[in-house]
Order: sequence, then structure tokens, then C-alpha cells
Amino acid sequence: MAMTHTNDMARLQDRFNHKFGRSEHEVFAFFAPGRVNLIGEHTDVTGGLVFPCGITQGTWLLIRRTYNHQYQFASTNFDLMAQLEQSEISQTYGDNWINYPLGVLDQFAQKGVALDGFDCLFSGNVPNGAGLSSSASVEVVTAFALNTLLNTGFSLLDLVKMSQAAEKEFVGMQCGIMDQFAVAMAKRDHAIKLDCSTLEHRQVPMNLDGISIVVSNTNQRRELNESAYNNRVAECTRAFEILHEALGIKQLGELLPEQLDAHESLFDSDLIALKRARHVCTENARVRAAVPALESGDIDKFGQLMNESHDSLRDLYEVSSDPLNQLVRLAREQRGVLGSRLTGAGFGGCTVSLVQTTDVPAFEASVAMGYTQATGLTADFYIMSAGDGVQQLHLDAPLQTGT
Ligand code: GLA
Repeated sequence: MAMTHTNDMARLQDRFNHKFGRSEHEVFAFFAPGRVNLIGEHTDVTGGLVFPCGITQGTWLLIRRTYNHQYQFASTNFDLMAQLEQSEISQTYGDNWINYPLGVLDQFAQKGVALDGFDCLFSGNVPNGAGLSSSASVEVVTAFALNTLLNTGFSLLDLVKMSQAAEKEFVGMQCGIMDQFAVAMAKRDHAIKLDCSTLEHRQVPMNLDGISIVVSNTNQRRELNESAYNNRVAECTRAFEILHEALGIKQLGELLPEQLDAHESLFDSDLIALKRARHVCTENARVRAAVPALESGDIDKFGQLMNESHDSLRDLYEVSSDPLNQLVRLAREQRGVLGSRLTGAGFGGCTVSLVQTTDVPAFEASVAMGYTQATGLTADFYIMSAGDGVQQLHLDAPLQTGT
């Protein structure tokens, strides 16, 4: 299944008018991409390093102010449409995707911004719950749109932080800043090396001559994702508490692998915390090595580090799953594959592989077959290119972004 649709603005406008009716108030259009993380997984929450890029798939938003304190949320991806009064927007809306835009509205309200109603139509082509940040793209596109329509003057970084806070406070996922940052700041043909402690970042050109970024979707139903994710965060906090006095570190992300080796005994019987800490510090070391490898054209090295990253996520951070491991195993058996790993939070979702472009058709055919044999599931494959971050679109122009 290819990621399809959405790039027809006229059709989206028709859907908007059909759902919400016409009014004298202007409709505006925005887009935010999803992201694929190349390396640096489960490091952001501890103030570590990550290396994601935006993708050309994402979320489109058509939005109009209502000025009557009524809010309507609809999506071309789901049937449900929510109609809310002013008094209802500060409460969560069941376990529904509407909590993402609601969480963002709540952040604006917390900052004292007066809200007086919006009609919002979302349309996305990032697969949901697949580790490609469909939720961050909804949050960031909403935050960027509100900032524009209300003229609130928040910086892009403010909007990133507000989107992350929306996810933490409203949705309850104790996420790091990587997804919202990448979705907002992405640049075409670049990946972002981000230090999640200082937010210092650098756009790194993706010189992937003849090599494709292939994302493979397990299509595994993800369960207990939020609670398992939050548990890992708590275990990292435990590891930090065990180490910080002895090492004088302010965040677990500062820990070096050799420091952990020297202080292993402090962990006593908390072997889980030790494993989590080992993943975090070795993964940060891998990002430090991977970025210069990519810049110097040593893609083999980059691929090898991706492989090590997966093995660490599987064995030490324990966020992989059998379908993910099968996809990675099969990928590594194919000709022209430089590296393959799970991407995103894990517990299902997608893998990312670097594959020689000429070998991609054979890769897809062979991995698809082996995967179905091994798991009974059907994988999807997407060839990704690094796309731009959040932006306003012009409704009368043909849509430029997306595939
Ligand atoms: C999710 C979170 C991110 C990050 C990744 C794992 O996508 O939202 O903050 O922790 O998992 O790297």
C-alpha cells in the first residue's frame, strides 16, 4: 500500500466546505511533515543526541476562525467529527486523536491567549502509530496555524515546546522533544543533529548518492505503547539517580559508556536500570560517530551503527517486538542493505533501512515474502526523502508538498 491522497487542495477545500459550511471568514492552509529518525533512539528524554529528518508525508490542516466560541474538528482519515463549546476544550476527548489539537489549544490558553473558536479539517498521509510522528505533525501544524491566525508571535521553538507539552500534559505520553522539533525545523535533503539538552542543532546535508531510505511498516497493532514508553523513562530516571552524585552529571544523556563501565557496581540489583543506561550512553556515542560518518560519505559505517542501534534497542532498552526483529533480520539478509533498525518508539511500527537504490525492488519483494511467512502479517514499504518542516500553504496554488 502506498501512502496516497491529500495533495489535492481543491478537494480538501470542498471537504472543508461540505463539513463546516461556508462563512465570511477566511480559510487558511498549513502542512507539517512526519519524521523518520535515522539514529539516536530513546535518547531525547535523557537530554541526549538524535538524528531525525522530516519526510514529505505529513498532515495538512485547513482552518478558519469562527469568532463564536464554537470548535469543530474533523479529519479525512477518521469518520468522527467533534463539535465543542468553549467550556469543553480544556478537557480530554476520550482516547481520541482530537486530544492532539485540543492539547495545543490548551497550551495557548495556558499562555493567556484568548481563543474564540475554530473549524479545523485535518488530512494526513503518515501511517498512524507507526513511529513516524503522525501525532507530532498534528500538534505542530495546529500550533503553527494558531500562531499565524491569532498573531501570537511565538517563535518556532516556543511552538515546538508547546506541542511537546501538549503531548505530555494532555495525551499523557512523557515524550522527549525530538519529534516536535524535527517536524517543525526539518529542511529538505537534510537531517538534523540535535542535542536535546541544549537544543543546539545542525542541519546536515544528506549525501545519499544512489542509496534510498526505505521505511518498512510491520503493521503490527501497537499495544501498551504509552505506558511501556513511560516506564522506560522512569527506569532512566532511576539510573540517573543511581549515578548522578558519583559522576556529577546533570542528565543521563551526559553519561559516557566508559563511565558506566566504571560505576556498574552502583546499580546493585537494579539490572533493568543498568541496561537502560547502557543503551542510552552507547546510543549517544553512536550518534556522535554516525554524523561524521555520513558527512564523510562513509555510509557503510553509518549502516553498521544503525545495526548496533537496533540490537541495543532490542536487548538493552527492550522496545523491539518480534515483527520488528523479523523485518530487521530479513532486511540485513538482502543485497545492497547497509543497515536496518527500528525507528521511533518501537513496540511495533516501522524499521528504517539504507538500501542501494538499484536493489530496492528486490529488497521489497523478498522482505515482503519472508515477513509474511515469518509473522503472517503484511509489511508496507515507503521510500522516504527528507522534506521541509511546518509551513503555511497558499490555497489558490497547487500543493507543492507531499507525494
Ligand atoms: C517517541 C517519542 C520521542 C522519542 C522516540 C524514541 O517518538 O515521542 O520523544 O523518545 O519515541 O526515540
